[in-house]
Amino acid sequence: MTREEIRKDLKNLLSEKRFEHTLGVEYTSACLAMRYGADMEKARMAGLLHDCAKYLSAEDKIAYSKRYGMPISKYEKKNPELLHAKLGACFANVKYGIADPEILSAITWHTTGKPDMSLLDKIVYVADYLEPNRNQAPNLAEVRELAFKDLDECLCQILEDSIKYLSNKKSTTDPMTRRTWEYYRIYRMRNQEV
Ligand SMILES: [Fe+2]
Ligand SMILES: [Fe+2]
Repeated sequence: MTREEIRKDLKNLLSEKRFEHTLGVEYTSACLAMRYGADMEKARMAGLLHDCAKYLSAEDKIAYSKRYGMPISKYEKKNPELLHAKLGACFANVKYGIADPEILSAITWHTTGKPDMSLLDKIVYVADYLEPNRNQAPNLAEVRELAFKDLDECLCQILEDSIKYLSNKKSTTDPMTRRTWEYYRIYRMRNQEV
């Protein structure tokens, strides 16, 4: 499918708000790709498709995950919403014909991140957090500025803010988000020592 065809399909499937967010992530990913010398077309496609499975109900997310043979962790079983990322990569591949592993990886890890992310993984993760329609997160102005100055530092700041936010809400944090934060926290400490 062409990008135009995918966009039309998503416009029908997603809520208006989610579709606007999707376009925000597509274009913010493209801007970050320009800034950091990543492949702009891949960044746009990953941004456009990152939430393509978000419209499914919790039951359907579990049912599709089983159908695709995806392992479901205990935490995901409790929070099926999280499955939309991995499922999004499956849909991108099976339904929209995207075979590029870098695009599929960026979609897969856009919610939790993972240790040692690729440049495209980081771009889509960051774009998802700060695209122009977002207005809830703390320190947004600062984080937006940082995104175009130092992508790794921006990533660390987002992870730190997300972990703090979840612990203030007394919500449990996905183990992968914690692993990502541990990895980048140590990475930041090492960089600060140099
Ligand atoms: Fe998402
Ligand atoms: Fe998103």
